[in-house]
Amino acid sequence: MKIKKVCILGAGTLGTRVALQAALSGYQVSIFDIYPKALENSKKLMQRIVKQLADNSGLEDIAGMHAISTITFTDNPNVAIREADLINESVTEDVEIKNSVWEQFGQISPEKTIFTTNTSYLLPSMFAEISGRPGKFCALHFHDVFYSKVVDIMPHPGTDPSLIPTLMEFGRSLEQVPVLVKKENPGYLFNSMLLAFIGAAGKLLTGGVGTLEDIDKSWMVNFHMPMGPFGILDSIGLDTAWHVTHTLPDKGSQAFAALLKQYVDAGKLGEKSGEGFYKYPNPAYRHEGFLI
Ligand SMILES: NC(=O)c1ccc[n+]([C@@H]2O[C@H](COP(=O)([O-])OP(=O)(O)OC[C@H]3O[C@@H](n4cnc5c(N)ncnc54)[C@H](O)[C@@H]3O)[C@@H](O)[C@H]2O)c1
Repeated sequence: MKIKKVCILGAGTLGTRVALQAALSGYQVSIFDIYPKALENSKKLMQRIVKQLADNSGLEDIAGMHAISTITFTDNPNVAIREADLINESVTEDVEIKNSVWEQFGQISPEKTIFTTNTSYLLPSMFAEISGRPGKFCALHFHDVFYSKVVDIMPHPGTDPSLIPTLMEFGRSLEQVPVLVKKENPGYLFNSMLLAFIGAAGKLLTGGVGTLEDIDKSWMVNFHMPMGPFGILDSIGLDTAWHVTHTLPDKGSQAFAALLKQYVDAGKLGEKSGEGFYKYPNPAYRHEGFLI
């Protein structure tokens, strides 16, 4: 099947990036959110990303701005889904919200539409039935899209295997490296490893073993990395991190989830809100001298 029109559900951190990359790759794109403000912010974020790409990776500013102008930003589900060959869902990491979105779009989508979810730690089998088309349902999970370019393809037991090559090809067409997760696993391949790493950093902080800056410095210096675990958490979004961490039963994870909740309740969601563990757009870990 040839994919031409892509519908993105959720105009937040990730949906915005997937929508922009799909438009830059020549797809017709619509992006849907229930909040008009989220759509406005999404367009502004795309403009900022295009400027960064123009500065750092040779994308022509004009080509980037043109790609944005071709995207349909809408809070009308029927407009969003019109003629879509594929949905990539990036709504809030919450079972009830995702269930209601999949139930809604299962009812209004054209028969041809392939359903994919970007959930980070939930499983496609949790939403496949309610979508009404389990055979066409699969996880297609992006990371950052522009800097972290792996895309996980994770079927559930009822996914039609003929979908896999189509999704592999679609991932490559968005300049990602597709990897197949052969059986359902919360966190795919990379996120399973990342969760263990972030969890360890969280326990060091809540246990009073080190400051967040020193924990980040240890990682950055030894692995020559541009950011440490708390910088990474800020880029993921502390609300998304809380959604994942608070479901883990062990005491260390619960203590870290409680700390994340304090940030979230204070509106400090990370890079997207201007402040998380660090302040943006110029976080301390990017300052000259941070690693001295
Ligand atoms: N942030 C990342 O780096 C990242 C990476 C990979 C996967 N993900 C996954 O992508 C999904 C979204 O994460 P995010 O970080 O972009 O979250 P986000 O909070 O930035 O964006 C979520 C968006 O969903 C919208 N939304 C909520 N309810 C909705 C509904 N009923 N219909 C339509 N839109 C609705 C919100 O208004 C918001 O704009 C999550 O499942 C997350 O696990 C995120």
